[in-house]
Amino acid sequence: MSAAERFRVRDAVADDAVPVSELRARVAAEGRWIGMEAPVDVEGLIRNFHDVLADDSAHAVVAVDDADTVVGSAGMFTVLPGVIAFGMNVAADSRRQGAGGLLLRSVLAWSRDRGAHKVILEVWPHNEAAIGLYTAHGFVREGVRRGHYRRRNGELWDVVEMGLLLQ
Ligand SMILES: CC(C)(COP(=O)(O)OP(=O)(O)OC[C@H]1O[C@@H](n2cnc3c(N)ncnc32)[C@H](O)[C@@H]1OP(=O)(O)O)[C@@H](O)C(=O)NCCC(=O)NCCS
Repeated sequence: MSAAERFRVRDAVADDAVPVSELRARVAAEGRWIGMEAPVDVEGLIRNFHDVLADDSAHAVVAVDDADTVVGSAGMFTVLPGVIAFGMNVAADSRRQGAGGLLLRSVLAWSRDRGAHKVILEVWPHNEAAIGLYTAHGFVREGVRRGHYRRRNGELWDVVEMGLLLQ
């Protein structure tokens, strides 16, 4: 079964606030992939999700299965005129089945539709799955910020900056 048969990506709606926030909390609890760390303020994430839906300069999409259960999400934000930053998550048991690729295509389509000239992101250097996905879609490494983020255990982690020029 292809990714497009297994999942579809649609614009997020208010009812997605809880499943998307709970998904982000679960991925944060994995401890290795995203900036957010457990314990997560899920209520705060839910409030923030509604703010994103109401913000013309931001956008959120979800990947859902045939029962409309959320298996992944992506959030996009305008950080500079024409420059969109994004973050994405796929549930652990739905990875490597194409949902991430569908979400990323949707991020790029939204960015192009807005006339953006560039899409950017930050990723941990050890996150081979995410770097593999972004590279497959044309993103390049723009640099490494050394010891940029302090983790709750006190460690300082490097972060890789990646970008894709849309023109
Ligand atoms: C990164 C992530 C979003 C990828 O989503 P996914 O649904 O598993 O990705 P897909 O199945 O669409 O994979 C698309 C491509 O990405 C790359 N990729 C995905 N997982 C990979 C892995 N474990 N190792 C190497 N490359 C990988 C491959 O190029 C893959 O294409 P292929 O399957 O034809 O080889 C997902 O692993 C995830 O949510 N991880 C935890 C959260 C996270 O890291 N978010 C991003 C933070 S920057």
